[in-house]
Amino acid sequence: MAKLHVSTTINGEPVEFLCEPNDTMLDALRGPLGLTGSKEGCSSGDCGACSITLDDRLVCSCLMLAAEAEGCRVGTIEGMAKGSKLHPLQQKFLEMAALQCGICTSGMLVASEALLKRNPDPSEEEVRFWLAGNLCRCTGYDKIVRAVLEAATEIRETAQ
Ligand code: FES
Ligand code: FES
Repeated sequence: MAKLHVSTTINGEPVEFLCEPNDTMLDALRGPLGLTGSKEGCSSGDCGACSITLDDRLVCSCLMLAAEAEGCRVGTIEGMAKGSKLHPLQQKFLEMAALQCGICTSGMLVASEALLKRNPDPSEEEVRFWLAGNLCRCTGYDKIVRAVLEAATEIRETAQ
């Protein structure tokens, strides 16, 4: 089968790649694009480990065809830190031990960043509701929720 040529933007950089028509975006990211931060937990849209943004919308990259990235803006975990400076969410996850095995972590971070862009001052309930599609079998979720709330506070205070 002929490969498809895709032109897109990933983390602000123009990118072109080739894929099979039935490749998922997660296949493309972790394969030819070499961006392995997005993880594969279930391949069925149930765990959130593969979360990315597509034109600022949070999506599961395992449920999206790679060809659908044509002309879109893709955001992945690799674009979250600015050089060696971690995003406040990443810093809080580290400081507050909001990760253990790390399989869920990039998806949690991408989803949390998407939440804070829409709602910079979420309640605990709103954080838990937003992250309900991101499964973690290690942490029990409390540390993740606390880290997101602390990062939100820090981001708001820095913006003042
Ligand atoms: Fe995509 Fe689990 S790998 S939702
Ligand atoms: Fe292991 Fe979340 S840290 S699944």
